[in-house]
Amino acid sequence: MILAVETSCDDSAAAVLSAEGAVLAQRVFTQPAQSGGVVPEIASRLHMKILPEMTAGVLAESGCTLGDITHFAATAGPGLVGSLLVGLSFAKALAFSSERPFLGINHLAAHLHIHYERDTEDLFPAVALLASGGHTALFHMTGWNDCRLLGCTRDDAAGEAFDKTAKLMGLGFPGGKALDLLAERGDPTAVELPSPMGGAKNPEFSFSGLKTAARLAWETGLHSPEDMAASFRARVCGLLVSKTFHQARKLRASSVMAAGGVAANSLLRLRLADEASAAGLRLLLPPLKHATDNAVMVARAARAELDSDPGAISPLSCNAFARWEGDRLVRLCR
Ligand code: KG4
Ligand code: ZN
Repeated sequence: MILAVETSCDDSAAAVLSAEGAVLAQRVFTQPAQSGGVVPEIASRLHMKILPEMTAGVLAESGCTLGDITHFAATAGPGLVGSLLVGLSFAKALAFSSERPFLGINHLAAHLHIHYERDTEDLFPAVALLASGGHTALFHMTGWNDCRLLGCTRDDAAGEAFDKTAKLMGLGFPGGKALDLLAERGDPTAVELPSPMGGAKNPEFSFSGLKTAARLAWETGLHSPEDMAASFRARVCGLLVSKTFHQARKLRASSVMAAGGVAANSLLRLRLADEASAAGLRLLLPPLKHATDNAVMVARAARAELDSDPGAISPLSCNAFARWEGDRLVRLCR
């Protein structure tokens, strides 16, 4: 039985997973938006305030006591260090006092592990698109813990570009979802926007120039919010989809996985589904509530680690980290 917490940014989350992998209880608290963005100290303090009651809540809902939990997991990074330290210290303290193992989990691996299943038949090799507020990357996966970076963004993440464009248009923060809704009523061809690093063969992304082009187009005052949103969304999704499927074909993947907050985007989901059916590939899309940050994905990453190594454990000295760098994504922090 795994109890996991996630506090990498400004969402506080906790979940309990049974030994068989069933979600017994889960909660996410989306902290009230501060104007303009996340204020790290406010986010950290709110995690501190929310986690105890939230954890008691998921334990009660799952019908478990602390003594039933066999493993405690928390996100170690990448993310906001102050926020991470709260969840990490909280889960470590529970593990320490219960004399149970603690597992520190990589947040990016956790996003991909929302799709974790023990039966991997037909799944690998896979190409995974991770598109969130902090990251945008393509991975080649030959197993759940065998994940190689193909390319990532050189500047802004896709979610960040959505949020900044939405903010400019007065849609609040984080405005990715609001922009997505507005785009439904617009013409995606109305505003001409560039496709930076647009070649499908290039696995890297760049959204900063696109975001600036959108701002300049918006400032002309010539475009309706609906058309602006639809054109911007179409450009971002076009880049994500074409690059993902180019890699999937090139690497003869059996499946394509999408994860991260932007995987909640309605056009992205439709376009990925169209391409996957045209290419005859299996597509794994997260349920909407599991695209954005949650603790179920952290618990599943811990479950995957324990399935491959029942003795898996992170040291209690395992620290928070802001950035992930390298070309191999490893889920357990040692
Ligand atoms: O994965 P996530 O919760 O946090 C990070 O790890 O960054 O992703 C949050 C991001 C935000 O930028 C948010 O605007 C974006 O996901 N997002 C969306 C949609 N829903 C959430 N972006 C576009 N369309 C959506 N429907
Ligand atoms: Zn995330």
